[in-house]
Amino acid sequence: MTISQVYEKFGIPRNLREHMMRVGSLATAILGAWKGDMPERNRIIQTCLLHDIAKPMSFNLANNTHFKRSPAEHERLLKLREWLVATYGADEHKATVAIAKELGCDSGAIRILEEMEWENLGRLLDRNDASAILPIYCDMRVGPSGVLTLAERLENLISRATVTDPEKIAESGRRAEVFIQGFIRRDLGGILHEEIESSLEQWMDAEILHPFNPS
Ligand SMILES: [Fe+2]
Repeated sequence: MTISQVYEKFGIPRNLREHMMRVGSLATAILGAWKGDMPERNRIIQTCLLHDIAKPMSFNLANNTHFKRSPAEHERLLKLREWLVATYGADEHKATVAIAKELGCDSGAIRILEEMEWENLGRLLDRNDASAILPIYCDMRVGPSGVLTLAERLENLISRATVTDPEKIAESGRRAEVFIQGFIRRDLGGILHEEIESSLEQWMDAEILHPFNPS
């Protein structure tokens, strides 16, 4: 199944598709500069492209002022939320994992996806788990409208206080950046919005089980 077919099947709105594709493109840019082999690259990209696939179940649909959705889109998202919860249960993280299994992701990809919670970052760093750290780091670098530097993103995160312990998350994010930098030949801070935006289209026809494209 191609990535556009997956997003279509799960009714993913455009902004959320773009978010997951940006995370995938950032991971691809990083993996393209990886020193030596990274055997889990396909699994990492799969995780990036699917990590928020069940997110519509936790959309706050009562507040429509920010997104200015049409009444038809609003209605569609209400139905989608209901369908996701009825089919996969109300736990978004577990639902994401269930969907990835249904799509045929192997146990290695499922492991990386199961670890993909920002709160896990400290523990993953303690055991040098590069495959699981990379998708979380990439997710951290993608703001609502594109890739940011880690400092910009953390500033945004702390000011919005959307996580329980933003200072701890920020510290883990900085450690993750130093950790990932040690594996690659280019400056992580130099991978910016423009480079990532120009590569989003590549994902639409890519196969979800073999998405990695080093070009
Ligand atoms: Fe995300």
